Amino acid sequence: MVSDNIETYAIDIQGLVTGFGSKLIHDHLDLQVEKGEILGIVGGSGSGKSVLLRTIIGLQPPYAGEIKILGQPINDLLKRDGKRPWGVMFQNGALFSSLSLLENVETPLLEYSRLPASKIKEIARLKLMMVGLHEDDLQKLPSQISGGMRKRTSLARALALDPPILFLDEPTSGLDPISANLFDQLIVSLQKSLSLTVFMITHDLDSLKTVCDRIGVLVDKKIRVGILKELLQDSHPWIRQYFHGDRARMLHQEQ
Ligand SMILES: Nc1ncnc2c1ncn2[C@@H]1O[C@H](COP(=O)(O)OP(=O)(O)OP(=O)(O)O)[C@@H](O)[C@H]1O
Ligand SMILES: [Mg+2]
Repeated sequence: MVSDNIETYAIDIQGLVTGFGSKLIHDHLDLQVEKGEILGIVGGSGSGKSVLLRTIIGLQPPYAGEIKILGQPINDLLKRDGKRPWGVMFQNGALFSSLSLLENVETPLLEYSRLPASKIKEIARLKLMMVGLHEDDLQKLPSQISGGMRKRTSLARALALDPPILFLDEPTSGLDPISANLFDQLIVSLQKSLSLTVFMITHDLDSLKTVCDRIGVLVDKKIRVGILKELLQDSHPWIRQYFHGDRARMLHQEQ
């Protein structure tokens, strides 16, 4: 539950303003993400979900506002060398096409750890096993495996350095419903076993219902956060439309 102690937040955003030129994308947005929760992020196309993610991890400087990760200002974290306390699966997160799956997962370890090559190979192998890939697949190129397996490889790469926070930008988009569901289950089981905090942008209504502890909706350049039950009662027109449209009927059924 929300605590008074700011240090306990995995992500703490106060008064965030972002934009491109004179066009504002976020305008005094506040968001607190608890350690160990899975927060789903929804919002219309172009509402600023990916920009929010990129801003939180320091890839895009904000116009104003304060961002802390595990109590540390993002700018302090970026100034330091070494590994960051997060892993990311970007929207359409491309793997290196000329590298094998194993080499893809080795990349962050080669960059940020000082471990010997044999150890790096072993860790990368274990991460790929952890997300459900098989020994026979490790030397394959991304073009030689299915979309679902590519997503799993991206996830293994995001988790290579054992980060406490995981950012996912539409991780199940492009997957068939069965593969998407398996991927969701993988996220939940990894969250539990690794005590991850997960910030997950998604349009997948199934994921929102079954995976996310809370949901944040980007509307009017700000974010409204609540549990599904609360958002189902929100009277904002976009939120009503999203959570009460035909597609969303399953959200209203009891588990
Ligand atoms: N590098 C950029 N330069 C200029 N405008 C940008 C840039 N990146 C994003 N934008 C604009 O910022 C707004 C928010 O983009 P963002 O990618 O965050 O949307 P989104 O909510 O992730 O949408 P989608 O669901 O389609 O992925 C959009 O209007 C987009 O055109
Ligand atoms: Mg996006």
